[in-house]
Amino acid sequence: MSILLVGALGQVGQELKQTLPQVEPTFGRLVPVGRSQLDLTDLDAIASTVQSIAPQLIVNAAAYTAVDKAESEPDLAYRINAEAPGALAKAAAACDAGLVHISTDYVFSGQTPSPRRESDPTAPLSVYGKTKLAGEEAIRQVLERHIILRTAWVYGTYGRGNFVKTMLRLAKERSVLNVVCDQIGSPTWAKDIAEAITQLSEHIDRYPGTYHFTNSETASWHEFATAIFEEARAQGLSLAIETVNPIPTSDYPTPAQRPPYSVLDCQKITGVLKHAAPQWRVSLQQMLKQYVKESMSQTT
Ligand SMILES: NC(=O)c1ccc[n+]([C@@H]2O[C@H](COP(=O)([O-])OP(=O)(O)OC[C@H]3O[C@@H](n4cnc5c(N)ncnc54)[C@H](OP(=O)(O)O)[C@@H]3O)[C@@H](O)[C@H]2O)c1
Repeated sequence: MSILLVGALGQVGQELKQTLPQVEPTFGRLVPVGRSQLDLTDLDAIASTVQSIAPQLIVNAAAYTAVDKAESEPDLAYRINAEAPGALAKAAAACDAGLVHISTDYVFSGQTPSPRRESDPTAPLSVYGKTKLAGEEAIRQVLERHIILRTAWVYGTYGRGNFVKTMLRLAKERSVLNVVCDQIGSPTWAKDIAEAITQLSEHIDRYPGTYHFTNSETASWHEFATAIFEEARAQGLSLAIETVNPIPTSDYPTPAQRPPYSVLDCQKITGVLKHAAPQWRVSLQQMLKQYVKESMSQTT
């Protein structure tokens, strides 16, 4: 018996590596693989790897996540975000495994200011959103024993980069920053996603399907950035930043269009796990405490 964790080196993947051992008694030993062991562009390799490991549970934390670059690489994004999850689901079905897959708030257009439920109509605005939606559909078509967890605005200690790390880097170099104030979402710590996935995986047989999960309460990117600087200073980080100007999205054009109101309704997962997700600001404090401690220990 085993759990195959795909995309083990991403920001959520690395957190899952630490939380999934909690469910080893149910599903077996954790086998984490990164891109060098399983490249998701190779659909044959997906089938043969899953067949040789014959896991009880597959958790897919890998994805093409470069939202803007996806606009100019739609085929590659489609291969990794749509075809590969479909191939994982087929391979899971062939060995009676369950599949937990991560999706995104960007499957919605976010044009109206009310939190989106799992059953609400999707209407992705970007190539990334369209390919992630196609991945969800490919899984649903071939595998009942699945959990698709849509999340949003993810940051964490691990991985190459995210909004928190980018803001901290810029805040050390600059005294003024302009940050978008008319996109609203729920900043979500990768560690909380990993905990939620780990707990939810135990319910895959009784309650399969699609779930929304984010940290609770909402913010604009501008409010999030301001909170990052306040909390980082409270943890003892020295920053050059003095002024954070709120700007409209129209002043910060990007290749991919983002949903203006990107809040997910998380009542369904709360009902199954019997507890609500932490407030985003509380999780941000925890993450920064860990991040500052680790970065200070690296410099001493
Ligand atoms: N980040 C967000 O704000 C956000 C928001 C909503 C949903 N999500 C979803 O959350 C999940 C986890 O995202 P994340 O934030 O942890 O992203 P991440 O840090 O970019 O991790 C993605 C991982 O996928 C791997 N990967 C990419 N192409 C691959 C391939 N061809 N074969 C094998 N592995 C490949 C990457 O490997 P390399 O490091 O080698 O490239 C990386 O380790 C994804 O499904 C994403 O769509 C993310």
